[in-house]
Amino acid sequence: MNSSEIIDSGSLTGDNSYFIFSELVDYQKEGNVLFLRLTEGSIALEFLTSDILRVVMAKGDNQVDFSSTPAVVDHTLNYNNFSILDRTELLEVKTESLKILINKKKFSLSFYDLEDKLIHQDHNDHALGWSGDQVRAWKKLEEQERFYGLGEKTGYLDKRGRKYTMWNTDTFNPHVPSTDPLYQSIPFLIGFNQGRSYGIYFDNSYQTYFDLGLNSKEYYSFWSEGGKLDYYFINGSNIKEIIKSYTDLTGRMPLPPKWSLGYHQSRYSYHPEAEVREIAQKFREKEIPCDVIHLDIHYMDEYKVFTWDEKEFPQPKQMLSDLSEDGFKVVTIIDPGVKKDPRYKLYQEGIKHDYFCKYLDGEYYIAKVWPGECSFPDFTKVEVRRWWGDQHHLLLDQGVKGIWNDMNEPGIFSKTSTMDLEVVHDNDGDMGTHRRFHNLYGLLEGQATYEGLKRYNSEKRPFVLTRAGFSGIQRYSAVWTGDNRSFWIHLELAIPMLMNMGLSGITFCGTDVGGFADNSDGELLTRWIQLGLFMPFLRNHCAINNINQEPWSFGKEYEEIIRKYIKLRYRFLTHLYNLFYRAHQSGLPVMRPLVLEYPEDEKTYNLSDQFMVGDSVLVAPVYQPDRSERMVYLPKGEWQDFWTGQSYQGQKYIIAKAPLDTIPIFIKAGAILPLSPVMNYVGEEKIEELELNIYLSGDVKEGSYRLYEDDGSSFAYQQGGYNIREFSYLYYTDRLEFNIDSLADDYQLEYSSYLIKFRNLDLEPSVVMIDGVKSDQWQYNNGNLELKVEIEASKIELK
Ligand code: GLC
Repeated sequence: MNSSEIIDSGSLTGDNSYFIFSELVDYQKEGNVLFLRLTEGSIALEFLTSDILRVVMAKGDNQVDFSSTPAVVDHTLNYNNFSILDRTELLEVKTESLKILINKKKFSLSFYDLEDKLIHQDHNDHALGWSGDQVRAWKKLEEQERFYGLGEKTGYLDKRGRKYTMWNTDTFNPHVPSTDPLYQSIPFLIGFNQGRSYGIYFDNSYQTYFDLGLNSKEYYSFWSEGGKLDYYFINGSNIKEIIKSYTDLTGRMPLPPKWSLGYHQSRYSYHPEAEVREIAQKFREKEIPCDVIHLDIHYMDEYKVFTWDEKEFPQPKQMLSDLSEDGFKVVTIIDPGVKKDPRYKLYQEGIKHDYFCKYLDGEYYIAKVWPGECSFPDFTKVEVRRWWGDQHHLLLDQGVKGIWNDMNEPGIFSKTSTMDLEVVHDNDGDMGTHRRFHNLYGLLEGQATYEGLKRYNSEKRPFVLTRAGFSGIQRYSAVWTGDNRSFWIHLELAIPMLMNMGLSGITFCGTDVGGFADNSDGELLTRWIQLGLFMPFLRNHCAINNINQEPWSFGKEYEEIIRKYIKLRYRFLTHLYNLFYRAHQSGLPVMRPLVLEYPEDEKTYNLSDQFMVGDSVLVAPVYQPDRSERMVYLPKGEWQDFWTGQSYQGQKYIIAKAPLDTIPIFIKAGAILPLSPVMNYVGEEKIEELELNIYLSGDVKEGSYRLYEDDGSSFAYQQGGYNIREFSYLYYTDRLEFNIDSLADDYQLEYSSYLIKFRNLDLEPSVVMIDGVKSDQWQYNNGNLELKVEIEASKIELK
């Protein structure tokens, strides 16, 4: 090895000498891998599909190591139909969708489509290298390039010009734009350059960094403090395809129980039992829908996990069963720290079976969290995950319905706020220090919890919520964004943060509504609930010393509006659940940045304060106090105000009315939107009828909506136990025809009739035919131009 170079990056790392990969010595194709031997080491290009290429680097004489982090679940992808053309200065590799040029003198990769259009390229002077344990890649930064993804990060939608660190951190300090890192590490980046996009997933669990043009205008770079340089380049014709491929690799969210899409009420902490009952009763008395109540750390005996404080909760089973009668599901918090107490069974078992984290010399790692001194399960061991998962029966037997995993970065009451980096994890024999496993701790705890809940009852979908995680966390858990504050700026920050989490495979996400730390107020809570209406995970939660922020805490005026919006959440539940199904199928987020739907429209590229729910609902939350209007960007097409029906031509900004009781919502003209009946909780009553709203427009001649439904609670859907119908309409010269087609019907729907609302129908029809027969089961209102038809059939014709 003789090549050592100095390059300009000292300010980023404090160490500016890297071995840079330079000259290609030889190459060899073996199956789906192209092995490249260079003067400084080896690089394997592993083709997974014609669009996904894995790049793995080995230093010096080391063999290429193809092992992955537990984030990657699909190890079956294999594509070997690529050709290699050896040109003087270049190797040209072709798949069915990509042309990759490898520079033979100075290693770098360039990716082109088959029309020779450049998609992305490495920095042409230094592409890959290492310095000590650090491994690094440099990529050319295109002038117009933008960056999305990276999971839970502060800042605007577009991450260009910023540097981010991946190191799961319990950050109680206020989350301002420079606060980084937070609780989750998702090293997945989407590069987007004027409509063309690609993805990079850096599969490395050590502390990693992404400098997206902060230190140079010429290149961007990602690197890690250890482990190997192992990344996936993902090509795709649009961002949706890239997310699909990324979630093929790292998995998708299984369908959650439908009740978990309802409203959750939490605080640190509801106790004793009487307070929990009182909160529950108030929701029902006040007819504010609520499905879930969370119990924070005070339900436990001295914060010992899997126990109950017997004084405060003398009869948990009775309490949980009474609450359940009333439709409440209770979720309990579980932290990973196990109190060091020789009388405590869990601690005894952990010691007896060698389940806790230790130093290399065998000494236990002991650190303080809520219970005082604790030991920490080593979740890298299969046996420990199983043991931990099985403990949950202690709570589930009593009637607990879901688990909230907190402090799992792990958060520790110490200077570094986490575990000592010298602690070793067993990892079933392939041991390593906490440096390697830190970012995986929450993911592996999530796996233990999800699998434990599923083993306990294989018929019921588990609900798990987590604070920490790594790529792949979506397979096990919903994610909330930790300890935000009751600041308006945190309401604003939530929007791009959640959108980027969605783009990073984490569909089921939300922030503490109302703000966790500091004191909320009526206006802030109201606006936050309005945003929450469309957050995939909707939970109001606040800290121990702050004033109450339940929906009724700030007086009647706010309570009324909050009730209206929580009810509206339940109206949207069928649509939301349908979008959860799409996410489960393809990784597509529920809460989407506009750029996902309108990649050709530059105005959407860094639009951070609006989002779409699916592809037809546009939401523009109000995130500042004392506002009664806000500017909204409507992309191309016609948009109808959800509240007033007023129609707007898009590709322009409008000023939308937004008094306190209104969050601007626009529906894309032509769309069909199902709305569900309001209930106090999911499943309270049988759904008798499905309401379908059709937003007609003179310009749009057809529309459709595909609706997925299942029992909302079991795994029968994985064996085909679901129902899919397509609702569609088409204008002919003399009539409008509406149809319902069944595409799958293995689940017996609760309802057999529909209330169809044709909105914006400017002429009263002279004839309405239902299944070919003339009907008078309809009403037309020429005030609001709405035709209502109630049917139990599959076809309506309006003439
Ligand atoms: C952490 C959590 C917070 C919880 C508190 C007490 O700060 O982020 O949600 O209420 O711990 O358990």
